[in-house]
Amino acid sequence: MSNPSRREVLQTLLAAGAAGALFATGCAAAVGPSGNIAAGNVSSVPIGSLKAIGTSMVILGRDVAGIYAMTTICPHANCDMTTQGTIDPSGIICACHNSQFTANGSVTKGPAKSSLTHFAVSVSAAGDLTVHASSTVSAATRLAVV
Ligand code: FES
Repeated sequence: MSNPSRREVLQTLLAAGAAGALFATGCAAAVGPSGNIAAGNVSSVPIGSLKAIGTSMVILGRDVAGIYAMTTICPHANCDMTTQGTIDPSGIICACHNSQFTANGSVTKGPAKSSLTHFAVSVSAAGDLTVHASSTVSAATRLAVV
């Protein structure tokens, strides 16, 4: 059995570093939403819907109690589930490490240990919705609409 040369050791370390860098960039960590985000008209948000608002990093949902909003950023390692996961009325899945959440953002499968952050939502007289991503609310908060 021979001792590895300095070159062989260096090549092994470089290969391991490249693999680590590739793994680390597989899931891009995102900064969460902030400020006020236009979320369309209430008439386009039927009961039972759940969808991302473009690339705003906000999910808009509606159940029988009203409209709610929450982040698309996974609390495990900050992947943006808009592009790295699935968001639909049956639930939310993070593609980075397979954390799963209910349609209301409650974590049902780790590695995430916490639920999705919810944001305040307001509506204008014309029915236009605004998500206030700098104002967090409880997961039970709803904007009652008719
Ligand atoms: S970042 Fe979502 S499960 Fe890890």
